[in-house]
Amino acid sequence: MTSSKVERIIRSIHKLKPLSTSVTRVLRAIDDESSSAGMISDLIGLDPALAANVLQFANSASLGYGPSCSTLSEAVMRLGLRRIRTIVLGVAAAGSLSASLHGYGLRAGELWNHSVAAATINQWLAQRFSFPNPEEVYIAGLLHDIGKIVLDQFMLIDYQQIYYMVKYKNCLLWQAEEAVIGIDHPRAGGLMAEHWNFPESLVEAICYHHSPSLAFNNPKLAAIVNLANAFAARSGTGLTFTASRVIHPEALPILGLDERSLQFLEEDLKKYFHNESGILSEQ
Ligand SMILES: [Fe+2]
Ligand SMILES: [Fe+2]
Repeated sequence: MTSSKVERIIRSIHKLKPLSTSVTRVLRAIDDESSSAGMISDLIGLDPALAANVLQFANSASLGYGPSCSTLSEAVMRLGLRRIRTIVLGVAAAGSLSASLHGYGLRAGELWNHSVAAATINQWLAQRFSFPNPEEVYIAGLLHDIGKIVLDQFMLIDYQQIYYMVKYKNCLLWQAEEAVIGIDHPRAGGLMAEHWNFPESLVEAICYHHSPSLAFNNPKLAAIVNLANAFAARSGTGLTFTASRVIHPEALPILGLDERSLQFLEEDLKKYFHNESGILSEQ
């Protein structure tokens, strides 16, 4: 029963529509060694949402850049092709996060708000841990729960059972998904990221955001996402039983933290966001 459900889920992931033509064109140009930065910025310019996002990243003080990049070709030069690739993929995939997910009890915009909060916190943590590739960390935060989009219809069918396990059996959501549906949202998200040819580090960060020590290549990125997810959930975004506030115990040693330094980190984070943007309001 369960395995046929998993097969159906995997089939539905394989049938997911490809990313938009403009995105595919940009990605193809990036992978083609004969493309110039000018050609790539021209292609990005054909898609206004993509162009706005690339410029925003290139001028982001919190990612360590100065705010002086006004053209796309400057932005492409500043960020470099590897980072542009990550941003383009992330922006393209993030579009589906704003829909409502009835199986998870999320109204339209709620998963989006949680994802943006996790991405922003990720970015703050990336600076704190001097993590290279801050864009990758941001995108990993933005897309970490993307698997919920595919699992939503199955959650709807098994809602009662999963709700009972989380509420009364001390089960974490992903463990209940795995037990009842046969696959959890991190793994479904990892398969989606693989389907869209995301870089391996992003696939891993999505796939292991609730079990970071299983990440083979980059457990630190998965651990940062694990932390950011819990902080975002504790801040009040994604306010259903489906938002896990639990930090995986193995995330701490991976990031060189103990309980005490974790507490300081969370206090600093609250102060920072309370002052800067109000993302983390008082609970
Ligand atoms: Fe999650
Ligand atoms: Fe999450």
